[in-house]
Parts: sequence; structure tokens; C-alpha cells
Amino acid sequence: MGAKKKSEIICRCNNISRETIEEAIRNGAHTLNDIFDTTSAGVGPCGGSCRRKLGPLLEYYLKNGTFPDKITEDLTGKGPGPKKD
Ligand code: FES
Repeated sequence: MGAKKKSEIICRCNNISRETIEEAIRNGAHTLNDIFDTTSAGVGPCGGSCRRKLGPLLEYYLKNGTFPDKITEDLTGKGPGPKKD
């Protein structure tokens, strides 16, 4: 298997790599909806199980301006965005 974790597949439904998603975010996809539209990750037949990776990846980038080595999955399903409570 490859040593390049950047090309790890995030969205298995649509075969979207982390590299593709990071590029979309860098190019201005700053909400989950933007990522869905730009890459088609997160909108596959599984119903979006990869969103728990997309969310934290996006959130990390918006906070830090860079991407984490390892994605911490968000198992709450809340994703990024204004917290209501
Ligand atoms: S794995 Fe991304 S939508 Fe199914």
C-alpha cells in the first residue's frame, strides 16, 4: 500500500481522496455543502458516513489554516458550524 496518506480515500461511495477534498477546501469550499457540491464527497448512497471525517477536516482547516496529520472522526454527527447551545 502507498505511503502517501494524503491520497487516502475519504469518501468510499464516490471514491474521493483526501487530496481532492483538501484541494477543494483550499480553493474556498468552507462549508460541508460546498464540499458536497465541489467534490461529490459526502453525498453517496451510504448517506454520508464520511461526513464524520469531512466535518473535522474542514473545522481543523478553518481554525488552523492547515490540515491535520490524522483526522479525528466526529462521531456525534454534528459537524462544524455554529453551536447552538
Ligand atoms: S462514503 Fe462518502 S457518502 Fe458514502
